[in-house]
Amino acid sequence: MARITLDTHQRIGTVDRAIFGGFIEHLGRCIYGGIFEEGSPLSDGRGFRRDVLEALRPLRMPVLRWPGGNFVSGYHWLDGVGPAERRPRRAELAWHAEESNRFGTDEFIEYCRALGTEPFIVVNMGSGTIDEAQAWVEYCNGTGNTHWANLRRNHGHEEPYGVKYWGLGNEMYGKWQIGHLAAEDYVKKARQFAAVMKWTDPNIQLISCGQQGWNEWDRTVLEGLADLVDYHSIHIYTGSHQYYTNVFHPHQADRALRICEAMIERVRYEKRIDHPIHIAYDEWNVWYRERSPQARRSGLADALAVATFLNIFIRHCRSVRMANLAQMVNVIAPIMTSPQGVFLQPIYHPIRLYAEHTREIALDARVECETHTLDPEEEDVSERPFRVADLGPFALLDAVATCDVEGREISLAVVNRDPDRAISTTIRVLDGTIGSTVLAYEVNGKDPEATNSFEHPKAVDVREPRAEGHGDQVDYAFPAHSVTVLRLPMG
Ligand code: AHR
Ligand code: AHR
Repeated sequence: MARITLDTHQRIGTVDRAIFGGFIEHLGRCIYGGIFEEGSPLSDGRGFRRDVLEALRPLRMPVLRWPGGNFVSGYHWLDGVGPAERRPRRAELAWHAEESNRFGTDEFIEYCRALGTEPFIVVNMGSGTIDEAQAWVEYCNGTGNTHWANLRRNHGHEEPYGVKYWGLGNEMYGKWQIGHLAAEDYVKKARQFAAVMKWTDPNIQLISCGQQGWNEWDRTVLEGLADLVDYHSIHIYTGSHQYYTNVFHPHQADRALRICEAMIERVRYEKRIDHPIHIAYDEWNVWYRERSPQARRSGLADALAVATFLNIFIRHCRSVRMANLAQMVNVIAPIMTSPQGVFLQPIYHPIRLYAEHTREIALDARVECETHTLDPEEEDVSERPFRVADLGPFALLDAVATCDVEGREISLAVVNRDPDRAISTTIRVLDGTIGSTVLAYEVNGKDPEATNSFEHPKAVDVREPRAEGHGDQVDYAFPAHSVTVLRLPMG
């Protein structure tokens, strides 16, 4: 028998809803043929796929990162504004493609408004110049009678866009990145970019380009940019064909966050930095099986991993103030399209449930249950080379609890990583009684490999089983390989 103990007074902190953010890149069919398909009967007059917008709404993404990703390091934003038929068609070197530029800054902002999300723009620190970055901020946010602000007005957008979040380049440490740099050189260049961007609009928030959060790169960048940035970014993709490695691999994020939090604390202390530096986990997901991120398959096991990632972000809510699922449509994404329609991947369901049910305050849930030790023989990190076995043994149940500010209702999310057995659990609330009507939502499928497709869109889906509270406890059996959200009303 497993036990989960809750107390609405044992609080970790406030959950920033920006952890449910998204990311779209000019890559494969994420933009063109994904969110944007001109001339399609499924699109509106602006070319936005209506069915995709509809599938996105329940994910309630508060912030959307664009235009890349690796793509941004060769992207000149001026190519993508003004009359669409006059925009240049460019060779796209990050993903060996062609860029029509029919979707650019104005379309992105329009899309954010349509979806009800905050824009987050990453600037080109690869082939791009300081002038271009300055001009981009002015184009979006400028209020004066100056050239770039007037260009926006000439394009029909009188009011400034007020883009708040700006990323200082993408993965600038990687040799796959156009114009990649050594950490010290990145710091010098990023300081120059940051200065002109902030002088253009002092209200913007800057995000420094981090690596996995634990690297020398992160340390050098934090030391060099701490006085200028509001967020430090981390990217981690996890995943493996081996079931246990796959479902436990997201605990890497826990390691990354602990180390990165400590580095931030150290740099703020040493340099007497008064403003907070948050962590923006601005690319994360499960990504394996194919080298190309355009891979289509995601299975139920990936959905368990994705829920575990979200649990970790919620437990680290004091530092993680933004996270952006990579990516939103078609590219290792929760939503897949064809010219005829969409289907939802298994990972869609936990993301949707968490976006809907996570409450404002993260609680320190205590979980007592059986564990699994990943022995190094069993661990398979051939696809994503970060070992995770040393972080074990891993509790088979991974749980987070959140509540509203007044503590009137607890939302408990539990991932059962046991591939074979249900885990009977007693859930107790120490400082209250639980109302009798407990709502339950469960993501599950036939086995961990279960996957959705256009032909079988509901092989992995959400069901609403029954649960009941008695006094201060609920007894609940979390089924094998499932993600469950319980809503516990406090009596
Ligand atoms: O999301 C796919 C790619 O992964 C992004 O372009 C890049 O930033 C990361 O390496
Ligand atoms: O596939 C190119 C790059 O290789 C990706 O952007 C990065 O995540 C990976 O290591």
